[in-house]
Amino acid sequence: MKTNDIGLEVKDTAILVDKLNTLLANYQIYYQNLRNFHWNVSGPNFFELHAKFEELYTTANESVDEVAERILTLGARPFSSYGEYIENSSIKEALKVSDSKQMVEITRDNINTLLDIERGALEAAATQGDEGTVTLMSDYITAKEKVVWMLSAYLR
Ligand SMILES: [Fe+2]
Repeated sequence: MKTNDIGLEVKDTAILVDKLNTLLANYQIYYQNLRNFHWNVSGPNFFELHAKFEELYTTANESVDEVAERILTLGARPFSSYGEYIENSSIKEALKVSDSKQMVEITRDNINTLLDIERGALEAAATQGDEGTVTLMSDYITAKEKVVWMLSAYLR
């Protein structure tokens, strides 16, 4: 049995690494969508949404780094180019969105996509006893579910 530096079996880790790289790719497009919205939002809700999008992309920026470094900790290579991100992301770039409500809806949809991937990654990590990734995913899921609740309340 071949193990990585932290003692987890490499064969099992490969499945998880794929999921984490998919998460990383989606996170990067989500991050850029938030920057887009932060810059281009307008209207009566400008100040609150401009600030909210910044708060969300700041958190996303930290998570992107954590996910990439978790992949490295597992002994693999994180996707590191825009080409890889676009190719491997099911979250699409938000192009020419000008309506602020639509920006919030897209943000909520994007977060739900990330949640799906994180739940899958958590399951894969749990299967192989990778408690570190389980905890990371678990924290992300809890935080995102709260954001989805708040964005849904905003949209109601
Ligand atoms: Fe700014």
